[in-house]
Amino acid sequence: MAPVQVRGTVLTVRRVDAYHAITVVAPAVAERFRPGQFLTVAVGGPHAATLLRRAFSIYGVRPDHGGTVEFVFAALGAGTQWLARRRARDTLDITGPLGRPFPIPREPANCLLIGGGYGSAPLFALADRLGARGCRVDFLLGAASVDRVFGALTARRTGRTAVITTDDGSLGTRGMVTDVLSQVIHEARTDVIYACGPMPMLREVTATAAKYDIPVFASVEEAMACGIGVCMTCVLPARGSDGVTRMVRSCVDGPVFRGDAVRWDDIGTIPFDALGAPGWRPKTGGAGFGSGSAGSDGSAGSAEPHNAMGHEPLEAGSAG
Ligand SMILES: Cc1cc2nc3c(=O)[nH]c(=O)nc-3n(C[C@H](O)[C@H](O)[C@H](O)COP(=O)(O)OP(=O)(O)OC[C@H]3O[C@@H](n4cnc5c(N)ncnc54)[C@H](O)[C@@H]3O)c2cc1C
Ligand code: FES
Repeated sequence: MAPVQVRGTVLTVRRVDAYHAITVVAPAVAERFRPGQFLTVAVGGPHAATLLRRAFSIYGVRPDHGGTVEFVFAALGAGTQWLARRRARDTLDITGPLGRPFPIPREPANCLLIGGGYGSAPLFALADRLGARGCRVDFLLGAASVDRVFGALTARRTGRTAVITTDDGSLGTRGMVTDVLSQVIHEARTDVIYACGPMPMLREVTATAAKYDIPVFASVEEAMACGIGVCMTCVLPARGSDGVTRMVRSCVDGPVFRGDAVRWDDIGTIPFDALGAPGWRPKTGGAGFGSGSAGSDGSAGSAEPHNAMGHEPLEAGSAG
């Protein structure tokens, strides 16, 4: 179902350790939501200079008040600080749900859900969905310090196991999630990994999982200006199933990508061999894009990047 733009009433604003969580009444967004999707919020009010909407993973939806959505955020810059000052009964202009959701295995599988900081927020709705499909869910959550680990209690309550790491050792094991990942994969007999967090974490998780031939579905956080596929600020290079690298849009082709499709080390660049990059030539006949720059030929961010998502063994967003 297509996303919608709504003005929703704020139900609650609560502090969760280092983060804030806002619940908004938005039935049309709630009913369309599938785990892994995000929303964008207009910030600053009608006369503010903060033109760009801010993107947040949807933490969860509930049926009360006809349908509510909740998102969790760190108050960092002007927009998120403004959001942190919202109160019950204020209204928020939100658009969602946006992006492609996490794919769900067709058969029960052992799923390891890895979250870094507030990146764990979208994993709990996913865990519910996986559980309903008969999957076993293990959590591996990490952050800089105890107050930045989001959802440790819920993970311990709902996961078969929950391993926590913090950089300073204030909760769980001292270190990063990737320090313990191999051990967790062995102990949990992991079949598939879902991950959301900082890009370096996603890159390392993908590299470790590759050693065990485990697929990774990574939800990336690339800066987004529009969130709806028109501005191309969120592009990153991803290899399609045909081996060709394309610049894909995180907002509409993602934010969930198969980890081994993303060229992590080339993020922020247009690799010379990406389709449409300056000087790019097709290997064999066919229509070439010769000297066009990425995007000028319409190829950049194709909505169907030859399965750059690589969701074959799973049902893409069949959460229903
Ligand atoms: C899919 C997705 C999910 C996210 N989920 C969460 C979440 O659950 N919780 C959370 O705390 N944060 C989340 N973020 C990050 C969150 O969107 C940013 O932290 C937030 O936009 C920062 O806003 P600010 O007002 O604090 O910062 P400011 O610095 O005041 O504003 C940043 C704004 O500028 C835009 N911007 C910055 N650089 C560029 C650029 N190079 N090109 C285009 N636009 C740019 C940003 O997208 C953002 O809209 C998510 C981001 C994405 C893309
Ligand atoms: S944010 Fe504009 S195309 Fe993705």
